Amino acid sequence: MRKPLIAGNFKMFKTVHETVSYIGELRQLARDISAVDIVVAPTMTAVHAAAEAAGDSAIGIAGQNVHWEREGAFTGEVSAPMLREAGARFVIIGHSERRTLFGETNDSVNKKTHAALTAGLVPIVCIGETLAQRDANETLAVLDRQIKEGLDGCTGEQLSGMVLAYEPVWAIGTGRNATPAQAGEAHAHIRQRLKQWFGLDPSEQCRVLYGGSVKPDNIGKLIGHQDVDGALVGGASLDPGSFLAIIRGATK
Ligand code: PGA
Repeated sequence: MRKPLIAGNFKMFKTVHETVSYIGELRQLARDISAVDIVVAPTMTAVHAAAEAAGDSAIGIAGQNVHWEREGAFTGEVSAPMLREAGARFVIIGHSERRTLFGETNDSVNKKTHAALTAGLVPIVCIGETLAQRDANETLAVLDRQIKEGLDGCTGEQLSGMVLAYEPVWAIGTGRNATPAQAGEAHAHIRQRLKQWFGLDPSEQCRVLYGGSVKPDNIGKLIGHQDVDGALVGGASLDPGSFLAIIRGATK
């Protein structure tokens, strides 16, 4: 049985100060929750302070991006060991905004995933089709390529501890989320491919989140699908109250 995981992606919102006070509030609000794992991904500048604020609570901190080299002349980049040292335990990799706005590819996703694993970070690898790809009936083929190329070289053991996030690009920040049936179909397909390519046990241990306009009022239906193990939440994670409502709604 996979434990549900709810991850909040702050994107480029909240200062260090705002992040720390958010974490303090969320700690209080979520102190009785043990049935759902909670992750918060603040901006890079706030990762360290967020990890300190989370302290020994059950809130895990994630980076929103990472470079694949340990160090070097890569202006503006942060490495996996640096993120780990700052207190992150997770890192979001290949978010659709990184893919569409910053040119990330399945190949860079693959290198980042290996770097994260080597540094002891749990990768949250994002996959998902655009609207044009969905309309052209290419959704499942796109997901296949993103999984195959993005996770190339990963072992079954590594996959077991990893997190995938299925985020249809057309549902991100649009208020238009996939129907539970659309999400269910994609998630079942992803699970099937993981089983085929990594083996039964790893495929059953790897958590696959849904992302794209997740709100307190739609988490219940989404989490109802057996292959949906939680959510990656953007906009609705920015308020601790609505994030908490989503966390509570994610209990299986
Ligand atoms: P959203 O973002 O919840 O605001 O749609 C989700 C994401 O980008 O991970």
